[in-house]
Amino acid sequence: MPDPASTIRRRVLLGGAAALGVAALTGVATPTGRRELFTLGVASGDPLPDAVVLWTRLAPDPLAPDGLGGMAAAPVPVGWQVAADESFSQVVRSGTTVAQGEQAHSVHVEVAGLRPGSEYFYRFRAGNELSPVGRTKTAPPPGARLDRFAFAFASCQHYADGFYNAYAHLARQDFDLVVFLGDYIYEGGSQGSIGRGHRPARDVRTLADYRVRFAQYKTDTDLQAAHAAFPWVAVFDDHEVENNWAGDHSESGIPPAQFRERRAHAFQAYYEHLPLRAAQRPAGPAMTIHRRLTFGDLVDLHVLDTRQHRSVQVPDAQRDDPGRTMLGAAQKAWLFRNLSGPTARWNVLAQQVFFSQLNPASGAQTRSDDAWDDYEAERDEVRDHLARTRNPVIITGDAHANFVSDVKADFAVPASATVATELIGTSITSEGDGVDHTPGDLAQLRANPHLRFVNRQRGYVANLVAPGEWAATYRVVERVSRPGSPVHDRAGFVVADARPGARFR
Ligand SMILES: [Fe+2]
Repeated sequence: MPDPASTIRRRVLLGGAAALGVAALTGVATPTGRRELFTLGVASGDPLPDAVVLWTRLAPDPLAPDGLGGMAAAPVPVGWQVAADESFSQVVRSGTTVAQGEQAHSVHVEVAGLRPGSEYFYRFRAGNELSPVGRTKTAPPPGARLDRFAFAFASCQHYADGFYNAYAHLARQDFDLVVFLGDYIYEGGSQGSIGRGHRPARDVRTLADYRVRFAQYKTDTDLQAAHAAFPWVAVFDDHEVENNWAGDHSESGIPPAQFRERRAHAFQAYYEHLPLRAAQRPAGPAMTIHRRLTFGDLVDLHVLDTRQHRSVQVPDAQRDDPGRTMLGAAQKAWLFRNLSGPTARWNVLAQQVFFSQLNPASGAQTRSDDAWDDYEAERDEVRDHLARTRNPVIITGDAHANFVSDVKADFAVPASATVATELIGTSITSEGDGVDHTPGDLAQLRANPHLRFVNRQRGYVANLVAPGEWAATYRVVERVSRPGSPVHDRAGFVVADARPGARFR
């Protein structure tokens, strides 16, 4: 079983050797004289039929407290190459971009003119140094017949809570795409107990602090391997900014004007560290992160933003107020237009928080005020649109637990029709090792008969989508408290074409 970190190291060597036969991509000297610029790896994202975004960031000293990664302010030319083969004997696109100090020397290259549904390899060069090699894949053309689409989804990768064993496993699989549903970083200063304490060791609020925090997460070689192996589609949840934020409202009581400033810092650092298009580049405290990606005639991915436009959380008594929104009017209209068609065979809502009703098992508990239960009127409206949509599947993060849920025409009536399927994926690490389930979980299943499964270990969800059925495999890690712990398949489900609801397989 190859170790992904050593794979990357091997690729650096391979890239370096290959470079001897390739004209220098740029002629500049290494700007700081340090040895290693590509400490944060490489990534690709948001694949289109003819294009993909390539990402890297120059950071010889990634945790430098000023957030500049050990770079001087000056711009640095960065060459890039895209090849049809891993040894770069068939380079199909190449160019030079400029890493700017204002963007923390991150680069986002939107490479166009690629062939649809095709695998490519890419790398960067700055000064005399070559980056590790990444692999990516373009999307098949919309409407083109597609018999198989394999993707993983993941969320919640608290660095101090665990080692990224799930990513070490994920990086060795054969996926077309990875979808990340939020909590790429956590903003708190926790130090944990496994020697992976947060840098800086405090709540991050300034741009410099957010940059250091993102860079720290990105130094993890298992995370780097998962990015280098597949294109990602990423969306944020709350912890990329602050726990449970809602629009301009900060849970910690920061006044709205100051909170917008903090959010602008967080969004800037988020953009700088992920393979996002220029269309997602933030403008101060605003960032358009909801978007649609289509994979042949098989999968439409409607990526939702359930943070930036939502109404503030309220107590239970007000949660069915029809004036409250999770998506905001513009995003909701966009989603409903998407769903009205034409669409692919499977329509995926890639989003953050628990969609299905989650009644507490006893009167002592209260509902989450951060999930769709707190936005009941709009949840019902979305659900009613999904009931008229072809093969709707909601994929969800945030819960730090695995669940599978039937989305019911009326959650209060267990016998009502199942109109969609919700697959809730656990965290990569957040909340530590976890357990299979608790007695409270079993009580919650009884209180919510539409829930088909619960598990509280860490891991990711692997999905194999075909015209006739969607197969989801819930993969869990034995432990995250030590590196190298094994991963196994905990449960598998299938959703049949034209039959909403998951069945055990
Ligand atoms: Fe989380």
